Amino acid sequence: MASEKVLAHLDAHRQQHVDQLCEFLRIPSVSSQADHKQDVRRACAFVADELRGLGLEVEIIETDGHPLVYAQSEQRPDRRTLLFYGHYDVQPVDPLELWKTPPFEPRVEDGIVYARGASDDKGQVFAHFKAVEAYVRTGTGLPVNLKFIIEGEEECGGHGIYRYTEQHADKLACDAVVISDTTLYNETTPGICYSLKGLAYMEIRVKGPDMDLHSGSYGGTVQNPANALAGIVAGLKDRDGRCLVPGFYDDVLELEKEERDGFAALGYTDAILRKETGAPAAWGEQGYTTLERMWARPTCDVNGLASGYGGEGAKTIIPSRALAKVSMRLVPNQDPERIAAAFAAHVAAIAPAGVEVEVVNHHNAAPVLVPRHSPMMQAGMNALKRGFGADPVFIREGGSIPIVGTFQAWLKAPVLLLGYGLSTDNIHSPNEKFDLANFWNGARTTAVLLEEAARA
Ligand code: BES
Ligand code: ZN
Repeated sequence: MASEKVLAHLDAHRQQHVDQLCEFLRIPSVSSQADHKQDVRRACAFVADELRGLGLEVEIIETDGHPLVYAQSEQRPDRRTLLFYGHYDVQPVDPLELWKTPPFEPRVEDGIVYARGASDDKGQVFAHFKAVEAYVRTGTGLPVNLKFIIEGEEECGGHGIYRYTEQHADKLACDAVVISDTTLYNETTPGICYSLKGLAYMEIRVKGPDMDLHSGSYGGTVQNPANALAGIVAGLKDRDGRCLVPGFYDDVLELEKEERDGFAALGYTDAILRKETGAPAAWGEQGYTTLERMWARPTCDVNGLASGYGGEGAKTIIPSRALAKVSMRLVPNQDPERIAAAFAAHVAAIAPAGVEVEVVNHHNAAPVLVPRHSPMMQAGMNALKRGFGADPVFIREGGSIPIVGTFQAWLKAPVLLLGYGLSTDNIHSPNEKFDLANFWNGARTTAVLLEEAARA
């Protein structure tokens, strides 16, 4: 089989590929911070150069925000076409003091590379590049037509790629979209993901007096925004973790028996959860297992709270303002816009008198569900099995990849979520990491996928 040569090439160039990945990881492409705008461009240029080096035709596409990279191989009508999506931007690094070594100085230790973006998503995207490179360098003909669209705004809720996909659906037409921006089931078991959560990201702003007031002079005379916000937050969920926004659960698609059985068979336990997270106990909605809550139940969580004085010692004030950031992770078939509107109405209904309360909907993402049984899913399974040397299982993810819903709607092609990360990779957190074994096996998987997809 052609892929033997390709896989041998990948195995022979492991160290070189790690060194190149580290170069990519050195670029601090934090898309949400204006200070890093030039760094984001450098990461974009790095991706474009990589793809050009594979002999692809490459375009850098300007948007309102950060640019997109599009690339394609020769498009032969007698071959299937795969569209690879990924992102070259990364999350902010704070709190910086919790990193063992600086986030943009990649450190390799015991077969693991530590750096911001290592797993989410530079390392996973880079595995795709190296797989294609192995075909090119060994002179092995590509079994499929390739297209790549790599964006720089995934982590900041940018809209460039949505518009581009809608306007250029013909150009992006494909037989399957392939995305590696998720996880394996665990260290020893690869997984094929068939559902992502959606998202409605909200901010609650509470305004009281024009300035902080002396809490002795004015205490008891005006509503305190921090107390008011605490009351609103308390009204978002009941004591068992069920969201109190009216209509929140109306459209939730319940798990099928086969799915529940499949989850149960994976043997995930609360002890594993405690070990992975360091949380003292598992907690959440009654009537669902931990894995069911993690993968298939919608959530409503405070992501950040700010008000008043949090510094050393005491300061006696009634704060002028209070703010909460709240994410609602949604499941099929919840509609983010509808949920965001219901949230705003609920907050308005429970807000106390004496403060001004504003609710802002930052960004949304549609939940995703893909059919578990299709020729392309089988191709993905076969590729994972060969790439990782173990049988893959079906998984879902609690995270979101906002563009996927748009791809489904406009490209009408199956979406393959082949994750090469681990849920313990500390993505969005200090000391993000990527296991080199997963990087190498991921590249092998992509290489095999090209052949599997060709005959799917
Ligand atoms: N790679 C993640 C998505 C993900 C997270 C998959 C966890 C599997 C497990 C992606 O880069 C991401 O972080 N997405 C954001 C989207 C948001 C900023 C709109 C997310 O889920 O928070
Ligand atoms: Zn991310």
